[in-house]
Amino acid sequence: MNSFVYDIPTKVYFGENQLGHLGEELSKYGKKVLMTYGGGSIKKSGLYDKVVAEIKKAGLELFELSGIEPNPRVSSVNAGAKICKEEGIDVLLAVGGGSVIDCTKYIGAAAFYDGDAWDILEQKTDVTKCLPVLDILTLAATGSEMDYGGVISNPETKDKIGLMFPVMQPKVSFLDPTLTYTVSQYQTACGSSDMLSHIIEVYFNMNKDLYMLDTVMEGLMKTIIRYTPIAMKEPDNYEARANLMWASSWAINGFVNGGKQQAWSCHPIEHEVSAIYDITHGLGLAILTPRWMEYCLDETTVSKYYQFGCNVFGLEPKMEPMEVAKKSIELLSDFLYNTLGLKSTFTELGIDDKNFEIMAEKSVEIGGLKYAFKALTKEDVVKIFEMCK
Ligand code: NZQ
Ligand code: ZN
Repeated sequence: MNSFVYDIPTKVYFGENQLGHLGEELSKYGKKVLMTYGGGSIKKSGLYDKVVAEIKKAGLELFELSGIEPNPRVSSVNAGAKICKEEGIDVLLAVGGGSVIDCTKYIGAAAFYDGDAWDILEQKTDVTKCLPVLDILTLAATGSEMDYGGVISNPETKDKIGLMFPVMQPKVSFLDPTLTYTVSQYQTACGSSDMLSHIIEVYFNMNKDLYMLDTVMEGLMKTIIRYTPIAMKEPDNYEARANLMWASSWAINGFVNGGKQQAWSCHPIEHEVSAIYDITHGLGLAILTPRWMEYCLDETTVSKYYQFGCNVFGLEPKMEPMEVAKKSIELLSDFLYNTLGLKSTFTELGIDDKNFEIMAEKSVEIGGLKYAFKALTKEDVVKIFEMCK
């Protein structure tokens, strides 16, 4: 097992009625606030008015950037950075899902860079400074509220790139489960598929690691499997929304990683698919993950699937390990496609094999897939894509 550093410096206000602390937290970083948000869900839900009232009450000066897209574009990062430079913004407040928070992190970084923000994603420049980012999360999914990563798309080059810079870690996150009551069934399902994948990417690892962390991950996966159908059926079930929201943060905030060095598999592959087809991230992962599991299953990896099948899906430990492994993939597929109702093939999304080669090549190269759970070549990824047709 590798040594590691544990450092998750985001202050979290969890639960209802915590927005009263917003003014005091923002004020720690200055007077001029740039509030960023997406396509309007926060106006519909009434959250926008509440946030603006808190900012005004604290005597802060408010600037806004709206219209941040799902799969946020670099053009939005540039637009936000321009406002920061022209207005001398002190602090950023992202109100929305992972796309808004990710975009805002890069706005904070690009505010200190004279040039196109895409240079940051292409790693032509390092990120050593970022304006302070605070957020109010409205969708349980990416964990962006408690990590220092972010993913940005460039429709011109058909790239979608995710990087991590410690200075982009949110200073404060407001996690109020009631703000997710308005999330649609579809986005709830996609969010949970994303969270599950964040855990699976780390859990499926053949190194001897901390039993304690494996047990935590199994608990997180069971939590997601238990509460997502409830949240979909009863959107205002506080217990379900609260469990999903906190699971979203802990799935990817670095805690369960415990020093694991292994590259992720499905995420780099999915990012190439959504770079070209602009699909919802969690949906792409739902289609890919069971096929990737099937592809990587063999005598050398079966013990991990056995652990997963027994501890997450409660399969009988007396069964043959290979039988448990195959059954666990079946049960995961059943959960994603039948219980959550997500589409199960690329064909249903209008994705054919035209771009399989290029998507496979880029995911292997950018994602470092030769260091993944099972080392994958371009040919392997094309075969996984074929299984998704
Ligand atoms: O734009 P608005 O109007 O706000 O609507 C959004 C959007 O249409 C809507 N929504 C959000 N909260 C809502 C709501 N609708 C009703 N009620 C609410 N309370 O949901 C739609 C999707 O939002 P988005 O932010 O795009 O979803 P998500 O949180 O899943 O973020 C996806 C992005 O995050 C990246 C993905 O690649 C994708 O670009 N990721 C970021 C990660 C990170 N920072 O660590 C890790 C992930 O693996 C992921 O790659
Ligand atoms: Zn993800």
